[in-house]
Amino acid sequence: MLGLLRMTPLGRLARRARWTVSPAAGPVGVGRLSVRVPRSVVESGVPADWVVRVENHSRRVWPAAGPGAVRVRHRWVSLTGRPYGEPAGVPLPRTLLPGDWADLAVPVAGPAAPGDFSLEWDVEVGGAPAGGPLAEAVPVHVVFPRATDIDYHHVFRTADLAANSWWVVGAYHSQEEYKRSSEARRVMLVGQGLTPDSRVLDIGCGTGQMAMALEGYLSDRGAYYGTDIGREAVEFCRRTYRRPNFVFDVGGMTAVPFPDAAGPLDLAVFFSVFTHTFVDESALLLAECGRLLGPQGAVIADVIASPLVARGAGHRGEMRVNRDHFLRICRAVGFQPKVIATFPWAADAERLLLRLDRR
Ligand SMILES: C[S@@+](CC[C@H](N)C(=O)[O-])C[C@H]1O[C@@H](n2cnc3c(N)ncnc32)[C@H](O)[C@@H]1O
Repeated sequence: MLGLLRMTPLGRLARRARWTVSPAAGPVGVGRLSVRVPRSVVESGVPADWVVRVENHSRRVWPAAGPGAVRVRHRWVSLTGRPYGEPAGVPLPRTLLPGDWADLAVPVAGPAAPGDFSLEWDVEVGGAPAGGPLAEAVPVHVVFPRATDIDYHHVFRTADLAANSWWVVGAYHSQEEYKRSSEARRVMLVGQGLTPDSRVLDIGCGTGQMAMALEGYLSDRGAYYGTDIGREAVEFCRRTYRRPNFVFDVGGMTAVPFPDAAGPLDLAVFFSVFTHTFVDESALLLAECGRLLGPQGAVIADVIASPLVARGAGHRGEMRVNRDHFLRICRAVGFQPKVIATFPWAADAERLLLRLDRR
């Protein structure tokens, strides 16, 4: 093999230059690997070309093929330090003489789930890692594909709410299922202290799933305040739920419209809302509840938690949070959080139902 290589033009050139012409076997010696991140945002499952520069600083020839071939490998590693998905490798685009370098465009698919990953690169020779500066780990924040993002303003502006108010706010198969879910939420809230005289704040009220469940339940001493960023959704609720103690108003992304004068509230609910807001927005909305709730008041909210996520990852179509980070945020804005139920959601995520009491 060595002899054969010596007879090639590459071998003759190498001999003249007094390089070690033995193809890289075992450690490839000195070199450098540098990696350029393709985009500021990596989308789960979506391939992108990463440009990797491989520099041969050694006195050996690095072959692109054959038993001592040099390959560039990558693998995703999750926040917990575990490999995520299958590793992959590509050969050098050509044999690299000492002192030479090559840029490779390596197609890399984003990991299957959003979160905070490390994309680890290294160079291998005959299946063994070269190590040293021939390895690099790039921290990468992964979100869901842009195509699955949601703009709720657009959703409500373009939906025909008179004909169909239920499927725009969730994955319901029928209006009956939407109604059943509304009833189930009311039963759950009664278990958390809701009474007919309660004063309830529903943030992200959508098309009134909670209002529907409370319309016949709350007494005249009770009150319901519903708010949403979707103007059309709020107008739909105003037309549909007309009790005098049911008030709807348009809210801001991080602001709840009802003035303090509305009086202290007993319960604030966020159903499938923190699944669509960025963590900082969720924190500010919770702080708003702190302003509006009475001393015994509580918040009921759900989130999608994933151990792959450091703080929050996703987009308005679906946001996932790190459980511990979210609970820390709840404490930071003055609540004592408790997970009261968990539901399976996806391979790397579960849905948590939280109760937050004022501290
Ligand atoms: C999945 S829907 C759920 C609606 C309703 N809570 C339900 O369970 O039927 C999410 C709702 O949250 C609203 N939303 C999203 N971000 C919000 C925010 N920052 N403040 C208030 N509402 C928000 C959306 O407009 C949408 O109506």
